Amino acid sequence: MTTVPSTPTSDGLAGLSGLGGAPAGLPDVTLLAQLAGEFFAALPSGSHDARLPFGAPPQPPQTELALANRAPAIAPAPARPAAAPDEAVDAATGTGRAANPVYGVPEAYAAALPRVESPEPPRGPSAPSSPYYFLGEASAYPSAASTASPAPSALPSHKDASPDVPEDRVTARSFGLPGDADLRALLAGLGDGRREPQAPPSPSAPAFYFLAPSHEEAAPAIGQSPRPAFDVQAVRRDFPILQERVNGRPLIWFDNAATTQKPQAVIDRLAYFYQHENSNIHRAAHELAARATDAYAGARNKVARFLGAAQTEEIIFVRGTTEGINLIAKTWGAQNVGEGDEIIVSHLEHHANIVPWQQLAAAKGAKIKVIPVDDSGQVRLDEYRKLLTSRTKLVSITQVSNALGTVVPVKEIVAEAHRFGAVAVVDGAQSVSHMRVNVQDIDADFFVFSGHKIFGPTGIGVVYGKRDILEAMPPWQGGGNMIADVTFEKTVYHGAPTRFEAGTGNIADAVGLGAALDYVERIGLENIARYEHDLLVYATRGLLTVPGLKLIGTAQDKASVLSFVLEGYRPEEVGKALNEEGIAVRSGHHCAQPILRRFGQEATVRPSLAFYNTCEEVDTLVAVLKRLAGNTGRNAR
Ligand code: ALA
Repeated sequence: MTTVPSTPTSDGLAGLSGLGGAPAGLPDVTLLAQLAGEFFAALPSGSHDARLPFGAPPQPPQTELALANRAPAIAPAPARPAAAPDEAVDAATGTGRAANPVYGVPEAYAAALPRVESPEPPRGPSAPSSPYYFLGEASAYPSAASTASPAPSALPSHKDASPDVPEDRVTARSFGLPGDADLRALLAGLGDGRREPQAPPSPSAPAFYFLAPSHEEAAPAIGQSPRPAFDVQAVRRDFPILQERVNGRPLIWFDNAATTQKPQAVIDRLAYFYQHENSNIHRAAHELAARATDAYAGARNKVARFLGAAQTEEIIFVRGTTEGINLIAKTWGAQNVGEGDEIIVSHLEHHANIVPWQQLAAAKGAKIKVIPVDDSGQVRLDEYRKLLTSRTKLVSITQVSNALGTVVPVKEIVAEAHRFGAVAVVDGAQSVSHMRVNVQDIDADFFVFSGHKIFGPTGIGVVYGKRDILEAMPPWQGGGNMIADVTFEKTVYHGAPTRFEAGTGNIADAVGLGAALDYVERIGLENIARYEHDLLVYATRGLLTVPGLKLIGTAQDKASVLSFVLEGYRPEEVGKALNEEGIAVRSGHHCAQPILRRFGQEATVRPSLAFYNTCEEVDTLVAVLKRLAGNTGRNAR
């Protein structure tokens, strides 16, 4: 049973005295807590959780969805050790107890790799000072304006490091798998997404896990970087669902483009909110209202800092990316797009970045123009430039394609839009969890993303908008919270962002999103980008060894997504077969029918990676696909 202090503050247990200290004659609460902690620490292992001084919630039972009698193919992940939340996160960054400096690499290989001595990393501004590491978050943060990422001029140019490699890829230390040069070589000339079947990477060739000589020039050498090693097993222990079994097999979650799994820190934060802070956000009313208001404001501040926004007021909470784009279309769009005006999107877009603009264009008599892609799935910048005219009012573009994984050069696209006086919207739903984003560097007028795709809760998302643009926009929904004054004659609205947040918002999930951003920031977006990139290379190599498999989307700059079709099978058949092995992928049109049709497909199989995935999981996927490929005679359409 979980019990926690009733009046916690940023001082943690000391906050128990926040109501005036221990009454006369009673022991000090801090002393009580210490004694309780010692008592529970003395109990047999598993009977308490060191994170919580008064006990811990029961661990969820391991559930088997079906076929419980089948033997697992892979040993289940080790049980998550009891640890303070901040310790768990430190472990994720490899400090202290990380045993293996190289993620996902079998021990035998790892032993041959150079070890990296990692200095204690500096704690971020959100580093906890108490077991209640998420408390006092509003007051613990300076304003976003003072903590925002460096202004564009101060950002290191990736040209300084390497002419072709994005900055977030070269500032992170490689973890020992092939780098950008290899992905480019691997995908170059693979316009039809096929390659002759090759021998799979051999377990007896550990050199595969080392940097290729050409890549060493583009990335800091192992041992030279101050960054700690990335211990994927420590990361995995932070995600309880990764211990789930499906059809008797350990779950392999390769459906990260659809939604991501949640670390314990996010789950705990949500529970804590409902246990200790739940209230509507009217600060002055009472104690819990003040706590909830602080928590919500703190979450907004974290988002602002995460995106590199200039001001916290530039962050609007919405349900998700879809609602965010609809908000922009129905406010800025309704106000600024007229008959004969033009809206530009790309062929890559998710339906959420097509339909709202079609609706707006239909209502206003405006026109939609589409940037084509080349045969690899990359947008054609030359064609884009031809589409821009003085009638272009808005360009809305994804940063990473959810269907193909293409990383789009949004900075250039935004700059071109601005040359024509157009406003630029960037859909970051598929980018924020994979790479560092700085909205000031991109110079996006709007940037949208969903919390659930970055390890946060569902039902919460973000619209970033430049302050002057937001202040000039009308509200889109009316009601409480968004008004300064109401009479029957006239309503005066608040400024941004509350003008756009009518009614009671999703307070708890905004707070949960803040915890998710803290989590990824502690691991480091650069580390995540580097690791995932190398894993993507590994997975691409593996898939290309499957006979009859055709990759859909072979742009040289990709993130996370590996869309493919397999000869002899419909995508849903492959998805079903993978599910039987505990492997979760999406198969279908991925809410992006136009781009799949561009490649002659109505559906694909889409594994999508996150930083908790491993090479071993990729190996399992490839093995199942090879088995299917070998059965095509029996299963052919
Ligand atoms: N947009 C999500 C996906 O791509 C749902 O799967």
